[in-house]
Amino acid sequence: MIHKTLKPFPPEFLWGAASSAYQVEGAWNEDGKGLTNWDQFVRIPGKTFKGTTGDVAVDHYHRYQEDVWLMAEMGLKAYRFSVSWARIFPNGRGTVNEEGIEFYDRLMNELKKYHIEPILTLYHWDLPQALQDEYGGWESRRIIEDFTNYCIELFKSFGDRVKYWVSLNEQNIFTSHGYVYATHPPGVQNEKLFYQVNHHANLANASVIKAFRRHVPNGKIGPSFAYSPAYSATSKPEDIAAAENAEELNSHWWMDIYAWGKYPKIAWNYLAEKGLAPSVEEGDFALLKEGRPDFIGLNYYQSTTFEMNPLDGGVGAGEMNTTGMKGTSRDSGIPGLFKTTVNPNLDRTNWDWNIDPQGLRMALRRITNRYDLPILISENGLGEYDKLEVNNVIEDDYRIDYLRSHVSAIQEAISDGAEVLGYCVWSFTDLLSWLNGFQKRYGLVYVNQHEEGSHDLRRIKKKSYYWYKQVIASNSL
Ligand code: NOJ
Repeated sequence: MIHKTLKPFPPEFLWGAASSAYQVEGAWNEDGKGLTNWDQFVRIPGKTFKGTTGDVAVDHYHRYQEDVWLMAEMGLKAYRFSVSWARIFPNGRGTVNEEGIEFYDRLMNELKKYHIEPILTLYHWDLPQALQDEYGGWESRRIIEDFTNYCIELFKSFGDRVKYWVSLNEQNIFTSHGYVYATHPPGVQNEKLFYQVNHHANLANASVIKAFRRHVPNGKIGPSFAYSPAYSATSKPEDIAAAENAEELNSHWWMDIYAWGKYPKIAWNYLAEKGLAPSVEEGDFALLKEGRPDFIGLNYYQSTTFEMNPLDGGVGAGEMNTTGMKGTSRDSGIPGLFKTTVNPNLDRTNWDWNIDPQGLRMALRRITNRYDLPILISENGLGEYDKLEVNNVIEDDYRIDYLRSHVSAIQEAISDGAEVLGYCVWSFTDLLSWLNGFQKRYGLVYVNQHEEGSHDLRRIKKKSYYWYKQVIASNSL
């Protein structure tokens, strides 16, 4: 729709930036923290670029004061970070590790000191390994109770200071990479299990939201979903059907459950016929319906274009799509259903991701229309091979272009009528890329950390840092 006037960003708009525990903290075995699935996985030879681990990451655990100071200087309104479950419960459940609580307490107080709104993610992929060993982690319904108890502990400790909470980060990604592509822990390829694991995660998500209502009645909570809006490659009806199939199986499958506690009918039918639909117990849907969130967290990086997978073959089921790590949308691998294809109308990054700000506007509109919920853009950003020049500057004009065009698309969507609570740039500082080490950087602040060579962990503001600072100060582009 073309609106008559461009609306300004609301005065309370949360201009933010984001990170996750495993990618920034380091201190992997300090102060009583238990082992996580990632601590273990990265030690398997060949899993990550040059065997990089998050043992040190960017050492945020010890340098959080400096990082928060950089946020304060920028004028950041909100900082999204995650809590590492294994710092709070080293074995996933049982006795609380007070030192874990104390770390996040210190971080939160530091943020509050500079009036930076904390946005706390409860689960950003690092699962206590003890739970994986004991009952298969997300493979068992036992995870629902353990995850809920861990979250309640955080609600009790931080509910007085944190208003915005993200329940699960990118459930579609950690489950597809963990159980279809085998590129994340636990490194399994089993599509039936993938749908079952997701059903348990959906129940855990709803159970946590239900508990949240009791413990933090004035807070706001929602899951963050990696949504890549599906486009059709052509106007051929079969390609349009393919894009619709992809939208239903790759996106509605999750977001419908979050919003309404039910699976989309056609997709359910399709999966049930194939024997892939999850087994459901009595009471599951009643619980799922109680899990309506206050907002949808949107992690947007790019759109994906689909065409019909020809009936004479195509890629194998579960095969990684062309953009490797991206995985926000996946090929069905099934003839007649859908497969991804290159969109010739879009530029691509050096990491081969589409650059499509209009896709963000579309994503905001589609979510608004279908779910009628406010949206928190919990991630958006550009991964690049940034270069630290001899004079200590990082001229990341390409990142500024990317961010500017996306912020402009948000303003268009707000003017269209979407309710957008805030925008978190991924990421505040450079951080560990799960599989790609430090070659792929997203930060507004450079961190001198590499797989080899110089790594004094110095923080250096990039050109994009100054650009974003000025956007925040003027509350406009
Ligand atoms: C999604 C994830 O939430 C985050 O951890 C990751 O590093 C970025 N997107 C970039 O891929």
